[in-house]
Amino acid sequence: MKEIILAPSMLSADFANLQKDIEMINRSEADWFHLDIMDGVFVPNISFGFPVVKHIKKHAKKPLDVHLMIVQPERYVEEWKKVGADILTVHYEACTHLHRTVQQIKAAGMKAGVSLNPHTAVSLLKDILPELDMVLIMSVNPGFGGQSFIKQSLNKISELREMADISNPNLIIQVDGGVDKNNYKKIVKAGANALVAGSAVFGADDPEEAIIVLKSY
Ligand code: DX5
Ligand code: ZN
Repeated sequence: MKEIILAPSMLSADFANLQKDIEMINRSEADWFHLDIMDGVFVPNISFGFPVVKHIKKHAKKPLDVHLMIVQPERYVEEWKKVGADILTVHYEACTHLHRTVQQIKAAGMKAGVSLNPHTAVSLLKDILPELDMVLIMSVNPGFGGQSFIKQSLNKISELREMADISNPNLIIQVDGGVDKNNYKKIVKAGANALVAGSAVFGADDPEEAIIVLKSY
C-alpha cells in the first residue's frame, strides 16, 4: 500500500458549473486541486488566471496545486499566493534564474515545484533538487488535456527518484499528462507519489470512483 497524492486537473472540469465540480472534489478522496495556468506563449493554449483561481479558493477545501505554464513566472509569484495557491510549480524551461524563483516561491509561503517538459533531462535538476518540495514530470507536451502518456517518462521518473534518494528523500514526484487507470501503477512503481489526472477523472462515468481507483496501489 503506497500513499498516492491525487490532484484532479480542473482543466477538464465544467467551466460553466465549476462549483459543482469543486464540491465533487471536496467530497472525494482527492488530495489537491490541480490548476493549469497557460499563457498562450509558453504553451499554445490559454486557460484561466487570477480571478478564476480566487473564486475556486472560496469553495475549495483542499490545497491548490498551481501549475504555471507561462513565461517569466517570477513576475507573478506573490500574486498567486494572494489568490490562494498552496503549491506553485514553474517550468524549468521558463526560468533563467530558477534558483532565485524557487526562493521567491518559498519566501512567499508556498511549496515550490519545478516542472520538466518531456525533452528536458532530469539530470539538469541535480543542483537545485535539495531546494525543491516537488518535481513535476510532464508526461505529455504541456498545453492540452486528453493526450497520450509518453512512455519514456517512466525512465525519467526512476532516474529522478534515484537522485532524490540521495539529496532529497522527501521530494514529491508528480506526474502530469495521460495518467489513467491502465498506467498509473507503472508510474507509481517507477517512483512517483503524486498524480495529476484530468480526463481520467472528469471523463469517467463516476469521477469519485475514478479518484478512488487512481489512489489505490
Ligand atoms: C497539460 C496539463 C495537464 C492536463 C492533464 O498541459 O498540465 O494537467 O490537464 O490532462 P489529462 O489527464 O487529460 O492528460
Ligand atoms: Zn498540469
